[in-house]
Amino acid sequence: MHGFTTRQLHADGQQKPLNAHAMPLFLTSTFSFDSPEAGADLFLGRRAGHIYSRVGNPTVEALEQVIANLENGEAAVALGSGMAAIHASLLSILKAGDHVICGEVLYSPSLHLITERLADLGITSTVVDTSNEQAVRDAIRDKTKVIFFETPANPTCKITDIRAIAELARPKGILTIVDNTFSSPYFQRPLDHGADISLHSATKYLNGHGDVIGGIVVARSELAAMIRTYRRDTGGILSPFDAYLLLRGIRTLSLRMLRHHDNAMKLFEFLSSVPKVGKLYYPGDPQFPGHHVAARQMTGFGGCFSFELADGFEAATRLLSKLKLCTLAVSLGTVDTLIEHPASMTHVATPKDIMERQGITSGLVRISVGCEDIEDVIADLEDALEAI
Ligand SMILES: Cc1ncc(COP(=O)(O)O)c(C=O)c1O
Repeated sequence: MHGFTTRQLHADGQQKPLNAHAMPLFLTSTFSFDSPEAGADLFLGRRAGHIYSRVGNPTVEALEQVIANLENGEAAVALGSGMAAIHASLLSILKAGDHVICGEVLYSPSLHLITERLADLGITSTVVDTSNEQAVRDAIRDKTKVIFFETPANPTCKITDIRAIAELARPKGILTIVDNTFSSPYFQRPLDHGADISLHSATKYLNGHGDVIGGIVVARSELAAMIRTYRRDTGGILSPFDAYLLLRGIRTLSLRMLRHHDNAMKLFEFLSSVPKVGKLYYPGDPQFPGHHVAARQMTGFGGCFSFELADGFEAATRLLSKLKLCTLAVSLGTVDTLIEHPASMTHVATPKDIMERQGITSGLVRISVGCEDIEDVIADLEDALEAI
């Protein structure tokens, strides 16, 4: 098998029309049939081809093929956002009466979807610390169908041992779903560690340039087929234009990830030496609780991590208002550095007790370290830290 970087450039697998070098953008809602019989054959799956872009589109399929390849999965399904990917994965598996276990450190809308929206449909949930295998084992019920977690988790980078959870889930017929957004497939491939589904907010590292909202799910073929049917029925497919931009972003994924990793490591070292900075949540830190598991299941520690300001909320908000180069914005995984305040922004909808369990204090700041010359990012933070 070719190396990752070769595959990110060559794995779209599509026969490109007119000898095009790049995968063209197929901006078409529908496709004509050669004959009524050919149309019927396409609908019955007796012939391969395209019908209608809510069902499938060549540009979207090229993206799905590359991501499935990079994640070492059989198939991928692209959706209009990371939340749509999570929603379609969960709802194509879970039915009323089922139970789901989810990690307690989770992107706030994912937690809300699982604990509130699924509850409205008669699907119950238990929120646990998935880094604690015994806690996960204790939470399993007869009706448990899915264990869902992020690793590293947003925003405090909590690490869950994918293999350990998959091994306790599989014999009970429970599916393990990993939100792999923080790592990208370059640093971590959950299916290699026994997970059933790896999914992404493609908005983040996969795209890298901050100009797409998208999501993608990777799984074995029969699971992917269920999710694809769910997508057909609920209409959440990614637009061809966003697939085109994602295909372009992915061509540099490994190069960007290496730079994110190096820059994050250097920024972590700088922040570790600043007295105004309290706790740091960076999986590359040998003292970080999940470091050894992360080092085993990841090949790099990513570029997004959190740190606390010793003086709490006032200090955090003053820091954010003093920065000149780093952009004050949510999202992550872009080529430039983004910084935000989880307690009042990305995780504001999380119930207070869970926020406390997650370690999201009012002084916590999350930074997505970009690909700039890191000295410039450090200088920006140094100036802002001095001014608070
Ligand atoms: C870990 C994680 N999963 C899922 C999502 C949702 O993705 P999207 O914003 O593309 O819907 C996010 C968004 O920040 C995220 O950080």
